[in-house]
Amino acid sequence: MHRTALYSAGLLIPGAAFSQSARQRNPLKIPEQLIGSERNGQQHYSLNVQGGSSEFISGLRTPTLGYNGDYLGPTLRFRQDDNIAVHVHNQLAESTTVHWHGLHVPATADGGPSQIIESGANWDPEFKIMQRGGTYWYHSHALNRTGDQVYRGMSGLIIIDDEDNRRSGLPSDYGVDDIPLIVQDRQFNEDGSFRYIGSPMDVMTGMFGNTVLVNGTLAPVFNPQTRLVRFRLLNGSNARTYTFAFDDQRAFKIVASDGGLLSTGNDQSTLVLAPSERAEILVDFSDGNPVNLISLPMAASSPFATRGMMRNMHPMNEEQMQILAIEPQSRLSSSETVRPELSTIQRIDPTEAVRSRSLTLSMAMGMGMMGGRGGGRGMMSGGDSFFINGEAMDMNRIDARIKTGETEIWEITNDSMMMHPFHIHYDQFQILDRNGRPPSAEEMGYKDSVKIGPNETLRFIMRFKDFSDADNAYMYHCHILEHEDNGMMGQFTVS
Ligand code: C2O
Ligand code: CU
Ligand code: CU
Repeated sequence: MHRTALYSAGLLIPGAAFSQSARQRNPLKIPEQLIGSERNGQQHYSLNVQGGSSEFISGLRTPTLGYNGDYLGPTLRFRQDDNIAVHVHNQLAESTTVHWHGLHVPATADGGPSQIIESGANWDPEFKIMQRGGTYWYHSHALNRTGDQVYRGMSGLIIIDDEDNRRSGLPSDYGVDDIPLIVQDRQFNEDGSFRYIGSPMDVMTGMFGNTVLVNGTLAPVFNPQTRLVRFRLLNGSNARTYTFAFDDQRAFKIVASDGGLLSTGNDQSTLVLAPSERAEILVDFSDGNPVNLISLPMAASSPFATRGMMRNMHPMNEEQMQILAIEPQSRLSSSETVRPELSTIQRIDPTEAVRSRSLTLSMAMGMGMMGGRGGGRGMMSGGDSFFINGEAMDMNRIDARIKTGETEIWEITNDSMMMHPFHIHYDQFQILDRNGRPPSAEEMGYKDSVKIGPNETLRFIMRFKDFSDADNAYMYHCHILEHEDNGMMGQFTVS
């Protein structure tokens, strides 16, 4: 199964060296943690944006980008209430930005497309951690080049610790029973280099790969030493949505969503994560049996499945994929008992909202898509083919001005044939309803990205408090990065 998952029909099949290393299993890499060093009441971190190369496939070098290393970045460890100072140095020959995805920070510290770090330059954002513990991440947000830079390696995890997490009894020994899983799909050329955007289709559907990397490890294996393991899953892919499951159909507990712990764990056997969504799951390996974490083919009946003409043109999320082989050690140490009540989530009362905004996501299809008016945008003239309320992203246009302190309801409608994961900066939101129906248990926590299937309408509620800045904008966008880069993004200020 492992090999068939790697070689999907219609995609590039690399040479002999590749098949060799695909048969081999590689120990799951764990990104190193970066702990702040305290100075003048601030925790200081330093990130160097650099180029390098990685040997994903044995014997082949892949040119890559990373933070403080060749590919991806260290896991930044923050604590609630900490004052953070990050020193970012851009050693690349190209400009970039560093965005703290899911963090509640001032606009000038957000790392969106306006906070450009030129080649050779530094950026020194400061912010306080004013939010719940949980699994967040950071990545490039360079205008029109986010997909390309993230694909080459520009992302990393952020873990925020808080009292709820400490009290929960959840496994918390990083790299031992608290395991980050950054899941990304990639395509390789024969020479080992990444293959990014080979055709206009790669822009239209977003960039899909045939090979899964977890924390930058090809064909990874993990050996649990404890009965219970907490996995922090990040879908760090540009476009692919995974339906995570275990191949023996065992149940697991989802304990956290994008914005931290749920009120109680929810037992389930599948978990769908679109690009940029996170979840923490608790898995019991007491039986000692080996098992594979896989991604199931998305059913045609799923609300998130691609529809109509698009579905016939290109398969999306329909292959089964191997994610992680798990082989428990022979003697497992016992784990702490996890409290049934993990956290308290106060639901925001919809009557608190002073306003409701409607946004419609759409895309141009067929010839409009292929020809485009573009040229400048994207690599294959897919430019300006993706819209929010009929408009493509324009750095010179502020799409919404919000008053600090106000609560708003946003109603997002998907008027296209494929699912878009909608993400908003500034803070976490709560989902009110999906097509008029209340959210499922896994969507009852805090979120910053949400799947919106074809023809779906979703409403969320969000408080815009704490920060005020009339001049610097935050973004909202589809987190399929090729859609974001080609127009499906807008800007708002809060002041
Ligand atoms: Cu993950 Cu606008 O970002
Ligand atoms: Cu973000
Ligand atoms: Cu999209």
